[in-house]
Amino acid sequence: MPPLTPPADTAAAVTPSTSNGFTPLRVKRVVRETADAVSLVLDVPDGERGRFAYRAGQFVTLRVCIDGEEHQRCYSMSSCPALEPDLQITVKRDRGGLVSNWLNDTAEVGSEYTAAPPEGRFVLTAGEREVVAFAGGSGITPVFSLLRSALSATARRTGLYYANRDRDSVIFGESLSQLVAQHADRFTLHQHLDAADGVVTARHVADFMAGRGEAEVYVCGPTPFMDTVEAALLDLGVPEERIHLERFTPVAAPAPETNGAAVTEEVTIELGRTTVTQPYRAGNTLLQTARLAGLKAPSSCETGSCGTCMAQVTEGSARMLNNDALDDDEVAEGWVVTCQALPTSPTVRVVYE
Ligand SMILES: Cc1cc2nc3c(=O)[nH]c(=O)nc-3n(C[C@H](O)[C@H](O)[C@H](O)COP(=O)(O)OP(=O)(O)OC[C@H]3O[C@@H](n4cnc5c(N)ncnc54)[C@H](O)[C@@H]3O)c2cc1C
Ligand code: FES
Repeated sequence: MPPLTPPADTAAAVTPSTSNGFTPLRVKRVVRETADAVSLVLDVPDGERGRFAYRAGQFVTLRVCIDGEEHQRCYSMSSCPALEPDLQITVKRDRGGLVSNWLNDTAEVGSEYTAAPPEGRFVLTAGEREVVAFAGGSGITPVFSLLRSALSATARRTGLYYANRDRDSVIFGESLSQLVAQHADRFTLHQHLDAADGVVTARHVADFMAGRGEAEVYVCGPTPFMDTVEAALLDLGVPEERIHLERFTPVAAPAPETNGAAVTEEVTIELGRTTVTQPYRAGNTLLQTARLAGLKAPSSCETGSCGTCMAQVTEGSARMLNNDALDDDEVAEGWVVTCQALPTSPTVRVVYE
């Protein structure tokens, strides 16, 4: 695989190229949102606009090369396709994180990264229901796009519960205030600051949901925030199918000896015209097993959100650590998101479409 974004010190030595659906995109504008977050407006070449068309709430997979090593990360669009021709992502520094800090430190107009076309299922559902979102920190990115889409293209009522550490961490603060002014009749914003209010609790969620029980609810943010909000929504009786989750970090896998997978001996994987039987290593997901078998299995978010890695278990069984992508019918037919699926029978056969 060619390096798609060169390390800063070798920028002139590397020519990015389109490969495996990844396309070089040049940064045409950089917006320093806060000390910890940067928005990058990416120039999509005319010939690629069709492939890079997206729905509010979706993300692109960026591949960068730092110090000679390639890294792949997903970033949601913070732009709104109904309002802006350009594609914008917003990257918040993850403390100790590699790519987010590198992008914040080095991105400039003219920088070139390669990206795979947009995907993801964290998108507006059809219908008239109110749209309520709970966003924490960088989780505002897809939510900002979703809400502006709902406000510009529909007559739906909308509400945003937006949690941040403190005032300095708030991304899009000014734009959100403008949205409130423009749509005072149908957009409610509640800003929660941990520094003043403590961490978000079930009580905060219940208060914001009062009178909004029929809404479609979108949740995106750090894992503990998402866990609190999801549990509170379920306790309030919001049906699972109306709770839409976008996870930025994978659910932690249990220790192999407690995950029920130790009994598995081998996994047979069909991908395209290739069929491989691979001895199973306890604790590995089906996606990891496919990679160990030398297969280039499709993947993107690796959190169970996008469905890119889905495959059907046609023999044996598997369980998912997390599934925010497949509906009940698909699961009943044996489909799994392989990035989250652990085999649970002595042998398993998995077929990628
Ligand atoms: C669908 C999707 C959409 C996303 N959208 C956005 C978005 O819009 N904006 C955004 O900012 N992010 C988004 N993310 C998250 C993003 O993809 C990255 O995960 C994030 O930027 C962190 O990447 P990183 O390389 O900086 O951190 P990494 O280097 O991957 O590290 C992640 C964390 O692990 C810790 N860590 C790393 N190595 C170790 C180790 N050896 N031991 C212990 N801890 C370690 C780091 O300290 C850090 O906290 C999205 C993710 C997904 C899946
Ligand atoms: S890679 Fe996105 S659900 Fe598995």
